[in-house]
Amino acid sequence: MLLVIDSANVEEIKELIDYYPIDGVTTNPSIIVKEKLDFFPLLKEISEIIGNERELFVQTLTFKAEDIIKEAKYIRETVPGNVVVKIPVTNEGIKAIKTLKEIGIRTLGTTVYTPLQAYVAAKAGASYVAPYVNRIDNLTGNGVNVVKEITQLLEKHHYNCQVLAASFKNIQQVHNVCLDGAHGVTAAPDIIKGFLTHPATEANVQSFSDDWQKAYGEKSVVNTDKVKM
Ligand code: E4P
Repeated sequence: MLLVIDSANVEEIKELIDYYPIDGVTTNPSIIVKEKLDFFPLLKEISEIIGNERELFVQTLTFKAEDIIKEAKYIRETVPGNVVVKIPVTNEGIKAIKTLKEIGIRTLGTTVYTPLQAYVAAKAGASYVAPYVNRIDNLTGNGVNVVKEITQLLEKHHYNCQVLAASFKNIQQVHNVCLDGAHGVTAAPDIIKGFLTHPATEANVQSFSDDWQKAYGEKSVVNTDKVKM
């Protein structure tokens, strides 16, 4: 299951890459705008940080298929690394995804709210689809259930397209899509850090350390300063 950072903040990306088994970074225009930095230099910097092993998802902004294709090509030529182009699942977006598949540019169908949008994107050749869990919930839909249905549909009909669930407001939503079969999640840094946060874990770690120190007066089983990495 893929674990992807939904952010363009260089410091947060560096920190998360250092600590967690991260598979990539997703961006969208609103995420990029928050950083108040130039688009391509920022993406190049993120690409350098995450390296060629991880994927970098970059979204197009134009509306017509011909323009989306030009943007996608330019993004791929300009941003180094393992770039996947995010394209909204409009009529024009699907037309662009079809052509980009033919010329070997990998895409993610984004702004997905229904299983049939995902189906069309997968059939057109998208490598990923990104259903927007929290935005669906905000429309009184059931985001987790939409992810489940998309996953079932794509697997049942053997589409070579992964469901990268996106748009999370809380950890319960992530937990539920993981159980329901999503192939990956992309979430903001705070949500990802929250996966490991549990007061019982912190209390347990402290009490193990306290017990050891009371008995031996040491903080570790070995003097870590003397052991080479
Ligand atoms: C990621 O690919 C999406 O652009 C993103 O998850 C949307 O998240 P939001 O609904 O929190 O803006």
